[in-house]
Amino acid sequence: MPFLMKYLSGQAMGRFPVWMMRQAGRYLPKYRAIRAKHSFWEMATQPEIAAEVSLLPIQEIPVDAIIFFSDILTMPYGLGLPITMKESVGPITEIPLRTQDQFKIFEGYDPSQHTRFVGEALSLIKKQIPNEMTLLGFAGAPWTVGSYLIEGQSNRNFEQIKSWMHNDPASLACCLETLGDATVRYLEYQHQSGAHMVQLFDTWIGHMPKNFFEDHYSKILNKMFFKLKERGVPAIYFTKHSSHLTPLFSSLPVSGFSVDELVSLTELDKQFPRNVFFQGNLDPVLLLKGTEGQVRLKTRLLVQEARSLQRHVIMNLAHGILPGTPVENARAFVQEARSLWI
Ligand code: CP3
Repeated sequence: MPFLMKYLSGQAMGRFPVWMMRQAGRYLPKYRAIRAKHSFWEMATQPEIAAEVSLLPIQEIPVDAIIFFSDILTMPYGLGLPITMKESVGPITEIPLRTQDQFKIFEGYDPSQHTRFVGEALSLIKKQIPNEMTLLGFAGAPWTVGSYLIEGQSNRNFEQIKSWMHNDPASLACCLETLGDATVRYLEYQHQSGAHMVQLFDTWIGHMPKNFFEDHYSKILNKMFFKLKERGVPAIYFTKHSSHLTPLFSSLPVSGFSVDELVSLTELDKQFPRNVFFQGNLDPVLLLKGTEGQVRLKTRLLVQEARSLQRHVIMNLAHGILPGTPVENARAFVQEARSLWI
């Protein structure tokens, strides 16, 4: 069993495991060199390239987990939806989904047919990593993926998805449930293809009103995490800037919860059951702008805080590492976290 999984299973490992969200991305010079030759989707859909890019961070930095290179929109892209990646704009859905009928496409989603390249990339990575290394799968959560599909182009007011929510919350919930069911099949397929654990990214959940969560979304997430648990797929729920929902997150049947930089691990400790591990929560801006000394100091403080909890903690950033982050700062975070005992 790899180090991180052994630690989570309760074995005394002496130090905290560590990895970084978005670690396979644009802050690595080698990534940019490969990206200059291929489009984003070429990289994500060619298993050899996806595997090569996924393996880049472990050559530079001694992380304990590897996340496969892809995107939260790969599943809808694999199904045939016209999604393009536009530099510094983000993903664009050329024909936005605005009706319940359009969401029916997800009923026909078959992971090993529409996203076979993901399974192949995971198998290739698994063959090349040491036994100590944990392989992570991931997908976007229905609200976050739904917002890209419904908006068309990223919109900071979430105008389309929110007006749908106001006009007909039950029909939006029905669409998100269909998307959620497909996402569970996708994550299970990743697990079968070699991922030890999966993470569900709900980056834009902070924009969801509490009443929609209570009346509709909590049911969808509960069903998703329950099914994953039932099938033996350990799952982390990633949210950010959504404190208004924390008390509602704490009853989800997740294995782990990813904590952002606006709250402290200590604060959340009181709110979650003991058996849910935490992941987090160094501010990625510190890695982007801070000195190496600052990064090491804040990492030591985070380790100290984690030691004081009666709970498993995976050292990580609060959200994805930012493009332009100096590799030395990323390395300093990981090395410092690994050098300190629990
Ligand atoms: O460690 C890794 O890099 C794993 C791969 C990964 C990517 N995206 C690669 C990517 C993961 C885990 C994601 C998740 C993702 N994608 C999220 C959730 C996590 C988060 O950061 O909040 C979200 C919201 C997206 C949607 C998305 N995809 C955005 C906003 C962008 C940036 C667009 C831009 O150019 O500014 C993308 C594109 C994307 N996904 C890139 C990468 C490396 C950049 C594409 C490029 O190289 O041009």
